[in-house]
Amino acid sequence: MTSTPGQPELPRLPDGVTVEELEGLCVRFATEAARFIRDERPDRMGVAATKSSETDVVTVMDQRSEELLHRLIQQARPDDGILGEEGADVSGTSGLTWVVDPIDGTVNYLYEVPAYAVSVAVVVGDARSQGGWAPVAGAVADPSLRLVHHAGRGTGAWTSPEEPADGPAPARLAVSAEDRLARTLLATGFGYDPQVRARQAEVLLRVLPRVRDIRRIGSAALDLVRVAQGSVDAYAETGLNAWDLAAGWLVVEEAGGVVLGVGEGARSAPGKALTVAAGPALAPQVRALFMAPVAAPVGD
Ligand code: IPD
Repeated sequence: MTSTPGQPELPRLPDGVTVEELEGLCVRFATEAARFIRDERPDRMGVAATKSSETDVVTVMDQRSEELLHRLIQQARPDDGILGEEGADVSGTSGLTWVVDPIDGTVNYLYEVPAYAVSVAVVVGDARSQGGWAPVAGAVADPSLRLVHHAGRGTGAWTSPEEPADGPAPARLAVSAEDRLARTLLATGFGYDPQVRARQAEVLLRVLPRVRDIRRIGSAALDLVRVAQGSVDAYAETGLNAWDLAAGWLVVEEAGGVVLGVGEGARSAPGKALTVAAGPALAPQVRALFMAPVAAPVGD
C-alpha cells in the first residue's frame, strides 16, 4: 500500500489484474453462495456449532457456503489467500486475500428473518492484522431481495439484480446528506459475548437520546450497504471482524461515505475497536459519540 501524510492508504494491485476483473469475481462468487443458502436451505435448520458464546451460532449452511466460496476462489485465483469466518485460512502468494463471510446475519438466517447476506471482498495487505489491509473490490449479496451490492476501488458503488437478464439496470448508490446527529437514523449491532453486550448497552444509553432513532438489522454487511444506499444515515458497532466489514467498507466509500475506526487520519481503519460509517460530515460526530466516556449526560 502507498500513503501520503493525512490521506488514506491507497491499495496497489499486483501486476496483471484489474479492479474490474476482481469486482466481477466478487459479484459472481457472492451471488452463487447467496443462491445456494436460499435455494438449498434444509427444511429443518439446526445449529451445527457455537463459537464465542451459546448465542454465537454456526449452521451447516454457514459451513457449506464457505466451502463453496473456497472452491470458487481457488478455481479462479489459485495463488490468492483466503480468510473466512468459518475457518478458511490460506496464505497465498499473489498479495491478494479474499475475505469472506458465508452468511452474515446467521441468527436471522436461522430464524428466517430476511436480513442476511453473503459478503465477499478481495483485499491487499495483511488481512489478519488490524489496520494492515484495505479492500479493492467487494460484493454483498442479499438472497432475500435477490440483489447484489458491489464496488471496486474507483468504480463506484452499485446495486444489481441477482439475475442481470431479468432485472432492472444496476443502480448507483450514494450516502445520505444528513449532517446532524439529532436527525440521524443510526444502525448498530451487538456482539455475542455477554460482557461486550453489557458495555454496548451502556454506550447505547448515551447514544439513543441524541439521535433520531436506532435500527438493529442483524447483519453488519447489510448495515453498511444501508449506509451506502442512504436508507440509514450512519452505522456504528464495536467488535466487528474483517469478514463482517471488508466488502461493505468499500461499498460505503465508493458511495461517497467514510468508514472510520478509533485511530486518527490515515490510521483510522475500522475494526474490532470501532467501525463507524456515514457521510463525511456525520461520521466524525458519530465516532465522537461512540468514543466519549460512558455515562456522559445528555446535552454535553
Ligand atoms: C454478526 C452480524 C451482526 C453483528 C455481529 C456480527 P454473523 O455476524 O453481522 O449484525 O452485530 O457483530 O458478528 O455472526 O451473523 O456472521
